[in-house]
Amino acid sequence: MTKTVLLASITAILLMACSPAPQSTSDEHSVKAPKDQIEKGKDYHSFANPDEVIVEHIDLDLTADFDKQQLIGTATLTTKRIDEQADTLVLDTRGLTILSVTDGKQAVEFSLDKADPNLGSALRIKLPANANQVTIEYHTSPDASGAQWLTAAQTAGKQHPFLFTQAQAVHARSFIPLQDSPQVRVTYNATIRTPKDLMAVMSAANDPNAERDGVYEFTMPQPIPSYLIALAVGDLHFKAMGKRTGIYSEPSLLDAAAAEFEDTESMLEVTEQTYGPYSWDRYDLLILPPSFPFGGMENPRLSFITPTVIAGDKSLVALIAHELAHSWSGNTVTNATWRDLWLNEGFTTYLTYRIMEMIYGEDRYNMEAVLGYQDLQADIASLDPNDQILAIDLRGRNPDDVFSNIPYEKGALFLREIEHKIGRDNFDQFLLNYFEHFAFKSITTDQFITYLDNTLLKTYASKLDKKRIQQWIFEPGIPEGAPVPESDAFTKVDDARQAWLAGNKQAAAIDTQNWTVHQWLYFLNNMPESLDQTQIAELDDAFGLTQSKNNEIAHSWLMIAVKNEYKPAYDRLYDYLTSIGRNKLVKPLYRELSKTAEGKAFAKRAFEQAKPGYHPLTVKANQGFVE
Ligand code: BES
Ligand code: ZN
Repeated sequence: MTKTVLLASITAILLMACSPAPQSTSDEHSVKAPKDQIEKGKDYHSFANPDEVIVEHIDLDLTADFDKQQLIGTATLTTKRIDEQADTLVLDTRGLTILSVTDGKQAVEFSLDKADPNLGSALRIKLPANANQVTIEYHTSPDASGAQWLTAAQTAGKQHPFLFTQAQAVHARSFIPLQDSPQVRVTYNATIRTPKDLMAVMSAANDPNAERDGVYEFTMPQPIPSYLIALAVGDLHFKAMGKRTGIYSEPSLLDAAAAEFEDTESMLEVTEQTYGPYSWDRYDLLILPPSFPFGGMENPRLSFITPTVIAGDKSLVALIAHELAHSWSGNTVTNATWRDLWLNEGFTTYLTYRIMEMIYGEDRYNMEAVLGYQDLQADIASLDPNDQILAIDLRGRNPDDVFSNIPYEKGALFLREIEHKIGRDNFDQFLLNYFEHFAFKSITTDQFITYLDNTLLKTYASKLDKKRIQQWIFEPGIPEGAPVPESDAFTKVDDARQAWLAGNKQAAAIDTQNWTVHQWLYFLNNMPESLDQTQIAELDDAFGLTQSKNNEIAHSWLMIAVKNEYKPAYDRLYDYLTSIGRNKLVKPLYRELSKTAEGKAFAKRAFEQAKPGYHPLTVKANQGFVE
């Protein structure tokens, strides 16, 4: 240990010993702030003080140590004083070990607050007068909530380990000490050191031809919110798809992924034509191992994608349209707090449908819209009314625990209503202006409403109604008279299902030859809750559903199997739960299994086997079902 490090550590220990009680905990948040007064624009999920001192740029120098399962190194933060009197920089951390803080020359005093279970610990750094940079020497913990370290055995190639980060919503703080609030935007540079045979990629400018020498340099020249900082390290290779689009993945998946997602370049082009220029230079996809807890994550220039959507027939590529759309709604115009998540996800879901229509036509648009609408209806039927509000009150809560279709599908339906009222071309023009107006800004729901007041509500005063807009945003449920998506392609599926249920037609006699994956999903998702064993077996015999290779169809089928305890599907179910970590696919199965003692015992066996390979978020989301 150097003298400076030693001194700083002693200072830290001393400061910790006499540091004040934590500024606030999530519980205190809800006590301090009564339910009727949400402070506009206040980020209740960050301890940072950007209104006093704001971080504008981050330089990272990190080593990915696969033996210790730690990122080890430094973060140098360049700050700007907003309040001249301010003498403390407050950062967010979670599970980080802070070794020292210096201003480039000497040690700087710091203290780490007691940890809040949802938010981690505030790191308070005494800012030397005139200094505008601090360097924090730190390392992460092996169980960092925002990073997953996979052994070689947990990868496709089985030869090399893999690391990836997932920062949204509040996990960047578990691998970088920073102001972890979406209203703080930073540019960043990074040097990432890896074992020699691995390659690092980031949500930044990537060089597919970078020499594999174990040192990788990145720059992200556009200011982004912290939840978009991302890193992955593994046996990664690159294959171009179009001029600006390509795939990074382990070698064995490259060709399949490039074929599945070959329309990405066209998606990029039509989105630009409709909503204005793409701001981020390249758009590449990184295919992760199956433990990736989400379908996709819109990390700028490089979306992170689950391999579970490589179906062989492009049936699940709406996910790519979605992550691409975030380049406009989310990454260019960003939610200022997690309460405003619907501005990211609702706009993106609306854009996703539109992109899918532009590339694959109206039938696909209608089918996907109906399936999305049904997901929304299911949530409206089951969620607490407060959780059905677009501008949701998240005080004292962990954003991870409140994930639902509301910000996505209700947000999109709201925009669809405006589109219907003022006309598609006019609404597209509005969106284009909106993306330009707020480019590289983080905005609140209230800012959006004010913008709407000054634009559409003036131009189309006779067609839009302020009260109704307030109802969409601040009240539970779906306003009466909202658009109801419909699909002709589903009519014959309804007929077939009904005829079969009524005993008028055998499953094998249903003409499913030309059914799309969406028709299958609609067929299965709308089965009655309870079927008898002979009925389920008849479906399985006729259509081989237990063996379906499409992960979404398999999911819908396994839900039916669990609800009805159809045991012939349980080997497949076990295999599914232990090989996929995407929460949207596994969580409903665990929830359903946990409803019976026998189901729970089965779930527990699968969970215990899968747990070492699950992402921390997947473990957290499901362990309650097996306890
Ligand atoms: N940004 C989200 C994922 C996310 C949201 C992570 C909130 C953490 C907190 C991403 O764009 C997303 O929405 N993914 C969906 C895609 C689907 C709706 C097409 C997913 O992973 O299922
Ligand atoms: Zn999204």
